Amino acid sequence: MEKKYTIHLIAAARPNFMKIAPLYHALHNTGWAEPVIVHTGQHYDINMSDAFFRDLVLPEPHIHLGVGSGTHAEQTGRVMIAYEKVLLRDSPDLVVVVGDVNSTVAATLAAVKLSIRTAHLEAGLRSFDRTMPEEINRLVTDSIADWLWTPSPDGDENLLREGVAREKIRRVGNIMIDSLEMMRAKIEAAGTWQEMGLSRHDYAVVTLHRPSNVDDASVLRSLVDALLELAANHPVVFPIHPRTRASLQRFDLLDRLQAADGMNCLDPLNYIRFMNLVFNCRLVVTDSGGIQEETTYLGIPCITLRDNTERPITVSQGTNRLCRVRDLSQTIDDILTAERKRQPPPELWDGKTALRLTDHIHSFMSG
Ligand code: UD1
Repeated sequence: MEKKYTIHLIAAARPNFMKIAPLYHALHNTGWAEPVIVHTGQHYDINMSDAFFRDLVLPEPHIHLGVGSGTHAEQTGRVMIAYEKVLLRDSPDLVVVVGDVNSTVAATLAAVKLSIRTAHLEAGLRSFDRTMPEEINRLVTDSIADWLWTPSPDGDENLLREGVAREKIRRVGNIMIDSLEMMRAKIEAAGTWQEMGLSRHDYAVVTLHRPSNVDDASVLRSLVDALLELAANHPVVFPIHPRTRASLQRFDLLDRLQAADGMNCLDPLNYIRFMNLVFNCRLVVTDSGGIQEETTYLGIPCITLRDNTERPITVSQGTNRLCRVRDLSQTIDDILTAERKRQPPPELWDGKTALRLTDHIHSFMSG
C-alpha cells in the first residue's frame, strides 16, 4: 500500500476556515494523504469558529492548541510553544499554513525550525503597510516557508521582488472561491435576507474589525456617523465582530448604532448565512480581506474602508474600491448611480484550487 502522508492544516481564525476546508476535503479524498486539522484556538467563540466547521462540513479539529486571545507576542508565542510540542511528537510530512494571522507566522516558525516542510497558501500578498500586523505576518511567513502558493500574479511578482527563488512559487488560484462554489447550493437556499425582512438588492452588508478602524475612539465615531447616514437611506446589516463590539461598548457608541432606523446589528454570522446576505445585497462596506475577493468574484460592489489593500487585483479587475471614512457617502452615491459592469473573475479563481494543490503536493511528496 502507498504510504499515507500526514499533512497538518493550521486553522486559527475565522478567515482561515474557508481556506482549509476545500483542501481538507480534497486531500481526504485522495487515498494517499492523511489531513490533520490543527486548530490553534485563536478564535474560539462558537459563532467565530464552530459554526464555520459545521457549515464547511469539517470534522472536529484533530488537535486543539487552545491558545485564546492575548497581545501579539503572547498569542504568537503560545502557538509556537504549543505547536512545537505537537510537531516533536507527530512529525508530519507537511505543514500547510493559510492567510496572515498571528497563528500563521507562529506555526511556520515552529515547523521550519524543526526542518519540517511548510507551505503557505495565499502567499505573496502585500499591502506595503507595515503598521498592519498581517503585513508583518505575511513578510515573515513568506521569507521562511518552503512552498509559496499564490492566488494571483501580483503575489508572484511581490515574492520575486523580495528575492524568493522562482522554484518555490506556485500560482494555484484563490482557495476561497473553492469554498464558495462548494457551498453555493446551500448559500443560495439559506434565505437569510428574506428571514430578516430585507428586499433583494436593496440593502448594504457592513463588516469591520481592523484595529486601524475600530481601536481608536475618534475613527470609530466617524465610522459610526457614516454608517448611520447610510442606514438612513438603505437598510444596513452589520454582523459585529467581537473586537468591534468591545470597542463600540467602550466608546459608548453601541446604543446609538443599535437604536438607529434601518440598522440591523447582529452577532457574527456563520458562513452560509453571511454569504447568503452578500449574494443578495446591493453593496458591501468592509475592511475584511476575504470579502474583497468574494465580492469581486460575485460582481457585487465593495467599498473597502482602508488606505491600501494587499489584494489589488480586486480593484484593477474587480468591484472593489478603497475609500476613506470621510468619502464614504460620496462613494456610495457613485456606486448606486453607476451602471454595474460584469468582468470575468481573475484567472484561476475557478473553484479548482484545491485540486491543483493536491496534484502539486503529490508530485513533490512522491518526487
Ligand atoms: C484576527 C486576525 C486578522 C483577521 C481577523 C478575522 C491577527 C493579527 N489578526 O483579528 O488578520 O482578519 O482575525 O476575524 O491575527 N475575540 C472573541 N472571540 C473570538 C475571537 C476573538 O471575543 O472567538 C475577541 C477577543 O477579545 C480578542 C479580540 O476579539 O482579544 C481580537 O481577536 P484576535 O484573534 O486577537 O484578532 P482579530 O481582531 O479577530
